[in-house]
Amino acid sequence: MTDKLWCFTDNLGSFASENADKIKGLYFPLANEALMSSITPDLHGDIKTGQNSFLLQPVSRIDLENLKSSRNFWFYINKNKVWSATGVSKDLKQIKDDKFSLEAGLLWQKITRENRKIGLKTEILSFVPKDQPVEIMQVTVTNVSRKKIKFIPFAAIPIYARSADNLRDHRHVTSLLQRITLNKFGLLVKPTLVFDEKGHRHNKANYFVLGWEQNSKAPEYIYPTQEMFCGEAGDLEAPLSVLENLKPDNRQRIQGKEAMGALRFKETTLNPKARYSYTIIMGISEGDFNPDTVINKFNSPAKINAAFETCKKYWLNLSEKIKVKTGEPDFDNWFRWVSIQPTLRRIFGCSFLPDFDYGKGGRGWRDLWQDSLGLILNNPKAVRSLLINNFGGVRIDGTNATIIGKNPGEFIPDRNNISRVWMDHGVWPLLTLDLYLNETGDLNILFEMAGYFGSESKGTLLEHLLLQNLVRFFTVGNHNYARLLDADWNDGLDMAGKRGESIAFSCMYAHNLRLVSELLLKIGRKEIKIAKEMGILLRKVDYNKTEAKLSLLNEYFAKAKSGNLKQKISIEVNKLAGDLKLKSDWLTQHIGKDAWLKEGFFNGYYDNQGLAAEGRKKGIIRMMLASQTFPIMSGIASAKQIKTILQSVHKYLLDKKLKGIHLNTDFRQEQYNLGRAFSFIYGDKENGAYFNHMIVMFAYALYSRGFAKEAWQVIKSIYNMSINSRVSKIYPCLPEYFNSEARGMYSYLTGSASWFVLTLLTRVFGIRGKEGDLLIEPKLSQEQFKNSPVISIGRVFADRRVRIIFSNPRRLGFGEYRIIKARLNSNDLHLDYSTQLLIRRKDMLKLSFSKTHTLEIILG
Ligand code: G1P
Repeated sequence: MTDKLWCFTDNLGSFASENADKIKGLYFPLANEALMSSITPDLHGDIKTGQNSFLLQPVSRIDLENLKSSRNFWFYINKNKVWSATGVSKDLKQIKDDKFSLEAGLLWQKITRENRKIGLKTEILSFVPKDQPVEIMQVTVTNVSRKKIKFIPFAAIPIYARSADNLRDHRHVTSLLQRITLNKFGLLVKPTLVFDEKGHRHNKANYFVLGWEQNSKAPEYIYPTQEMFCGEAGDLEAPLSVLENLKPDNRQRIQGKEAMGALRFKETTLNPKARYSYTIIMGISEGDFNPDTVINKFNSPAKINAAFETCKKYWLNLSEKIKVKTGEPDFDNWFRWVSIQPTLRRIFGCSFLPDFDYGKGGRGWRDLWQDSLGLILNNPKAVRSLLINNFGGVRIDGTNATIIGKNPGEFIPDRNNISRVWMDHGVWPLLTLDLYLNETGDLNILFEMAGYFGSESKGTLLEHLLLQNLVRFFTVGNHNYARLLDADWNDGLDMAGKRGESIAFSCMYAHNLRLVSELLLKIGRKEIKIAKEMGILLRKVDYNKTEAKLSLLNEYFAKAKSGNLKQKISIEVNKLAGDLKLKSDWLTQHIGKDAWLKEGFFNGYYDNQGLAAEGRKKGIIRMMLASQTFPIMSGIASAKQIKTILQSVHKYLLDKKLKGIHLNTDFRQEQYNLGRAFSFIYGDKENGAYFNHMIVMFAYALYSRGFAKEAWQVIKSIYNMSINSRVSKIYPCLPEYFNSEARGMYSYLTGSASWFVLTLLTRVFGIRGKEGDLLIEPKLSQEQFKNSPVISIGRVFADRRVRIIFSNPRRLGFGEYRIIKARLNSNDLHLDYSTQLLIRRKDMLKLSFSKTHTLEIILG
């Protein structure tokens, strides 16, 4: 292998690394619907089912290298040597002699360490099987010496067994709650309480560590506490039980102490080249738990193997829902990882991987809706009920619960009980629903009923959408743009609550009002019912007058509070559509009038002093990418302005060497009137990092306005930075951002993945639903045909699997080519347009379920 951190080894997304153990902060997710793990090359990381149930101690990024507590596996060899198969021990000299390598795939990790001086090689396979709340660790040891080796193996899993909150809130006291039950194969820990001074609760979680040899034999000895395993003078990196080969001291008290899943297996002699394996199962189960169920499922290598195959198949299938063949195998492999990221975020929320050490599970409102974009493309039918359910988080004042739990109807008003209103939250549901509507043509969903959070009333989804977008139209600041409130998409703009305004998202509200207006004209109804109080927001006032808007808004709030949106009135659809269009047009012309700066880009914000945040200030250019993305996406920026924006992005935001686009220029000053973002070091997080979510949305916006060549360069910049693993120092995935050193940060759980999938499928390849029909409108660049004149993408549409193959023998780029021929399963299709092809849903439905259909598109 070269100086890369890893290389792909097949076309299934698997990769190998020989130096992953040298990279700090590198971790990998393992998960199923119930259990979430993070694991590093030396098996640090944690295992949990939620905020209050961690089997291994919760870790932040920095703990991955500093914490002594980790999964370990020790050997006591020939009565004179000790070796850790994970490379976590005090004997640094010995670790240097280990030859390390890692293989990983969707979603498994295998580390190999070989120590010639010791004469052993171990492979440790880690994965989370599909259906059980356990992580499996299978250790296979091989004698790589020429002599027989005699050893005693020890599995060593420190059990934390409590809530993340207790890490520094009664850490010792909560150890007094630990109750251990010994089992022939290991132990169970069931704390007596979930310790919480706001109100203690009965604990229902069982934490367990079980293990056996390859021949299903139980361990000989169990050390159930850390104290017993490590000894007074030892610790987890030098446990005396291993170092001095001590048996457990059965006289010691074991209850109410820090628990330990340390299992000592029988002494074994391995002949040269011989192999032997051990299985360790670590899990968390709620309620009555019989360990036999787990033991019987996994107590032979054949059973482990079967579980491993099922696990791999599950994730591989998921990564193939949208399958690309771009002529660049690395891209195709990398895309598999990106395409499972929305599922990972659905499982982990934004809280449960080492970088994401905030929140207590669940997902933020904005993330929830954007992740649904990716999920809709895979299976809109399955997402329908989820969408309806999510609308139940909207309040009658147009705001919403900010955290959404895993279960239907589980809404948490505010994270950490800090009540905040993000002004962009009203934007996302419509964008997501619009995708759903186009993919399915299911307009009926607009008339499904959903509740209002914190109230007993209900309304149609359409009513929810109207409310969200109308309220923000009226919530204006002094410049007559939507107020920034506690922040918008950029969580870091959180210090302009009083006078801040977001032009960026005013653009999106203008877009949404127009979209709803257009939708209304498609529903085929003359009248619809909406809450009586909402009529107030449809009254005519002079939109130029901010006081007039605010006074209508206040009237609405007062009436909605007393009437609760219970009483519904009929309203003429045409009239309503007209009113919304008027509002949208007004906002559009307002933005057009004064948001464009002479510096050649849009100002997107007013700060808490009412001053424009962007432009040239004291000789320094202040420019933000979000402020350009949304005018483009919403259709407000003209083609001429887009061209100028592109020049300004090139001039001010593009790093010429790395080819990455910064989220903003360096303001070189704290921005106490705008937000915390500017207090971060420049180049990280929301202060000017290469922030992938905004970069992808920028590319999406450019595509939707026909700037395909420029958009592809933007997409490529992200891919190139990710795949350059020597510098990005992450496994294949799209991280939240790259810092100024181009290092990938916050892996896996990021909204950019959904947008990346959306952009690639629906804009680059141009395969998307249009009111339920299938539209093909490729915006492919010449460069994409560099390696091959034939590229393809597969997806499911209207429940039918289709593979769309683009042949471009003359390797022309968007703008130069036309669709000159199209064949569905070898039958020629009639072509109406030169750049688009529409296949009616009814024709799609005639195709069989069971096979993959081929759609060939010839470009020329
Ligand atoms: C994260 C948050 C997202 C927020 C963004 C910018 O983005 O999850 O809600 O809008 O930071 O503050 P992500 O990691 O999803 O790209």
